[in-house]
Amino acid sequence: MFDPLEPESTDQVQFHFEDRRLSAPRGATVASALLGAGITAFRETPVSGAARGPFCLMGACYDCLVSINGVTVQACMTPIEEGLQVCRVRPRLTENEDKA
Ligand code: FES
Repeated sequence: MFDPLEPESTDQVQFHFEDRRLSAPRGATVASALLGAGITAFRETPVSGAARGPFCLMGACYDCLVSINGVTVQACMTPIEEGLQVCRVRPRLTENEDKA
C-alpha cells in the first residue's frame, strides 16, 4: 500500500511515459507517479493545444486525462501498475472542426 509519508518506498513498479522509463511506489496513482517524475503536462487542449495537468486530484476536473494502453483515463483515479504505457492525450480536430 502506498504511504504518502514514505515516498521512498522500496516497493516500486516500472512503467513508461511516452519514451521514458520511470518507476513509482506501488499503490501510487498515475498522476502522483508522473508528478513525482517532474511531469506536469498530461494532455493538450483540442482547440489551442495548451498543456493541461492535474488540478483537483480527486476526479472532478478531468485535467489529468492520459492515455494508458490506448484508453483515455483520469490519471488521478488510476493506480499505477507494472508495465503501463502512459501517453499524453493529444486530440486532433477534424477538418470541419478546424475551419469552425
Ligand atoms: S486532477 Fe482533476 S480529475 Fe484528475
